Amino acid sequence: MSRPVKNGTGRPCSLISGHSSATHGFFVRAYPGLASCARLATLAAVNDNLPISPPRAWAEIDLSALRQNLAVARALGGRNLMAVVKAGAYGHGLEELAKALAAEDVVFLGVANVGEARRIRQAGVTTRIYLLGATWADERAEIVAHDWTPCLSTVEEAAHFNRLAMAAGKQLKVHLAVDTGMGRGGFLTADLTAIMPALDAMANLEIEGIGSHLPSADEDAEFTRQQIDCYRACIEALGGPARFKWRHLLNSAGLLAYEQGVCNLTRPGLMLYGVSPLAGVQPQLATVMTLKARVTLVRTLPAGHGVSYGRQFVTTQPTRVATIGIGYGDGYPRHVSGKGAEVWVSDRRCPILGRVTMDQIMVDVSLASDVREGDEVEMFGPNIPVAEIAAKADTIVWEVFTGITPRVVRCYVR
Ligand SMILES: Cc1ncc(COP(=O)(O)O)c(C=O)c1O
Repeated sequence: MSRPVKNGTGRPCSLISGHSSATHGFFVRAYPGLASCARLATLAAVNDNLPISPPRAWAEIDLSALRQNLAVARALGGRNLMAVVKAGAYGHGLEELAKALAAEDVVFLGVANVGEARRIRQAGVTTRIYLLGATWADERAEIVAHDWTPCLSTVEEAAHFNRLAMAAGKQLKVHLAVDTGMGRGGFLTADLTAIMPALDAMANLEIEGIGSHLPSADEDAEFTRQQIDCYRACIEALGGPARFKWRHLLNSAGLLAYEQGVCNLTRPGLMLYGVSPLAGVQPQLATVMTLKARVTLVRTLPAGHGVSYGRQFVTTQPTRVATIGIGYGDGYPRHVSGKGAEVWVSDRRCPILGRVTMDQIMVDVSLASDVREGDEVEMFGPNIPVAEIAAKADTIVWEVFTGITPRVVRCYVR
């Protein structure tokens, strides 16, 4: 690289995934953009076999923005919150985000499976862990041993947890999942009143909570209202709110658009990561992840020159083309190809040309004449909203975030 690269935020940050501490000095020398971060922490390797190479793409994760979004969630729904950190905290990095959220005294960390629960514990985080989905029988002894909190959908799994808790000589705190319309798990509301005495008779279970899930809080207000009513009626039929210490229903869209009502615990995911599922609320939230990459090459192509696989884009005039070191192998969605997606480089939007390839993307920088090899490019972040990229890829932000691959180094800004 022939000239100093443009720096990132310059605030203290640490690298977390993909590379061992042995490569630390190498990065500092070879990768001045990341070296601009004041502190590079020891790296928890995702895959030690990854070839050592200065990363062409990385994600800056702003933990102060996370805290800001947490404050917005608390202002709306109260202090008690289950932060949903499944799928590697929506691609932001499970351990680091769990630590940051634990430091803010969230009540639960919501995970998808015991593997995620283990990783959180191994990171030294002691916040209560809630398993958001069904568990397999051979996972349950570990859940009981660690006092992780399962949500129950059947009497059979409740009975199994009860036996395991009895064998361990303890009472396990559990929550009832109630299916008010998601169709993914939980007791059917029509069955629950009849089932409850059997559950209550399980002496080694403490039925501490009751939760349900909203499938269309961002799309269908009428159905969502019916669900909220159904959930409240269900709780009343089971003895009233006081019967359950924790009552939870609201995901991000629910929290942003509806009252807590009978609930006393919220369960946001996406909004903590800075994206609102509802139009209009976005300005209150702060961007947590900025996906960045570097220009690897700049050339001028003549008129009539094809760009990328399939030659779906052909220049109509001499065009200054920057090649960027990121592609679908990093999780940048290939489906934005040909949809007018843009990147942010040299303080302006520049259009992507042709198809996204596995490791490289071509961009028209004819109007950004100062762009050089090594320059930093924002793929999405404060200037290019991730929701815009998701829409052009015909998908949802959740999928874009969770699709960012381990090759992309996560760089934490504290
Ligand atoms: C059961 C449950 N609760 C809460 C959430 C958080 O949802 P969101 O990311 O929309 O806030 C999810 C995410 O899929 C979930 O599955």
